Amino acid sequence: MAKTHFLFSPGPVMVSDNVRNALLHDDIGHRVPEFTAVLQNLQRNLLKVYRADDRYTVLLITGSGTAANEAVISSYFGNTHHALLLTNGEFGDRLQEMLDIHRIEKTVLRYEYGVRPDPAEVEELLKKNPKISAIIMTFQESAASFINPVQEIGTLAGKYNKTYIVDAVSALGGEDVDVLRDNIDFCTCSSNKCLGSLPGVGIICAKRSKLEEMRNNRPKTAYLNLLRLYDMSEQYHQTTNTPSTTQFFALDAAVKELLDEGMEERIARYKRCARILRDGVKKMGLRMFIDEKDASNTITSVLLPEYIDMDDFVQRMEVKGYTVYPGKGHLKDLNLFQIGNMGNIFEEMCTPFLETMSETLHELQD
Ligand SMILES: Cc1ncc(COP(=O)(O)O)c(C=O)c1O
Repeated sequence: MAKTHFLFSPGPVMVSDNVRNALLHDDIGHRVPEFTAVLQNLQRNLLKVYRADDRYTVLLITGSGTAANEAVISSYFGNTHHALLLTNGEFGDRLQEMLDIHRIEKTVLRYEYGVRPDPAEVEELLKKNPKISAIIMTFQESAASFINPVQEIGTLAGKYNKTYIVDAVSALGGEDVDVLRDNIDFCTCSSNKCLGSLPGVGIICAKRSKLEEMRNNRPKTAYLNLLRLYDMSEQYHQTTNTPSTTQFFALDAAVKELLDEGMEERIARYKRCARILRDGVKKMGLRMFIDEKDASNTITSVLLPEYIDMDDFVQRMEVKGYTVYPGKGHLKDLNLFQIGNMGNIFEEMCTPFLETMSETLHELQD
C-alpha cells in the first residue's frame, strides 16, 4: 500500500516493512528459549552497533529512552559520587532533573542551546574538583540538533579516570558512536530513533566493571534497577520484568537490518538525506539554527520568519501528510521547527517533502 503519511520528525520514526512484519510473531512467553534467543541475539548485535567488546554488555528495558537514562542515573550513583553534568539544551536539562530527583551531588556546567561545551573548561573543573567522579552529557542535544564533543570529553574522562555516561538516545545508529574509543562507560539509546524501530525499548550499553561497582549501592527503584537487570541477563538471559516481547522482535529486525545495510552506509544515507533537506531549506531563504559543522546527521533545526505562525505551519504540514516538530522551550519562541530524517527515510522522499514545505510556506505568506 502506498504511504500517505511521513514522519519527518526526530522520533518516533517510520519503520521498514521488515520491521513491521516482525510484530506479527507467534504468541510467546518471555521466559522460553525462543525469546531468550531473540534477547541474546539483540544484545550481541547491539554490542556491535556500539562498537563495544566483551568488557561491555547491553541491557534492555521496556520503556522509552528516559527509562534507560534513569536506570543508569538511579542505579550507578551512590552516596560517594559527584557528577559533572554538561548541558546545552532540553535533554541535558532532563538529565539534571533526574540527578535532582535522585539527590545526586553534582556540578552543572551550563551552556546556551547550540553552544559547544568547552573541553578546556571541563578539564579545569576536573583539576579543581577531585570529588567529581563521573561526567554525564548528551551525544546529540536533540532540541538544538547539536552534536556534542563526545570524543574530546571522553579523552578527559580517560585521562582523569572518571566514569563517563553518554545519552545517545538520538545518536546511536546515526552518528559515530564508539564506546571503546571514547572511554564511555554507560551509553543509552531507544528503539525508535536512528535504529529504525518502534517505541518501547530502552537500551543501555554498560561496562561490566562499572555494573560490578553498583553492588554496594542501596537500590533506589525496583523497575529501573540496572544491577538486577544485569544479573538476570547473566544468569538466565532474561529481563527482570515482563518485557514488551513484540517490541523486542521489532528491534531485533531493525538492528539486523542496520547491520546488513552497514553502519557506515546507514550514516552516509542519513547524511545524504540531511544534505538534500538542508540545501532545499536554504534555497527557500530560511536559516539553520546550528552551524553545519556542529549539526547532526538526522535532525535539522530551521528558523522560520517571524511572520509565519509556527503552529499553523506544523498543523498544515500534518494535514498534508508530513509530521514535523515545533522547537522545544524557548526555541519555539524563535520560530524554530525540526525536520528529522531518521529511520526509514530515503533520498527520493526528501524532494516531495521540500515541495510540500515550500507550498505551505507560500500559503502562510499570502
Ligand atoms: C537526547 C535525548 N535524550 C532523551 C530523550 C528522551 O527519550 P524518550 O522520549 O524516548 O524518553 C530524547 C528524546 O528525544 C533525546 O533526544
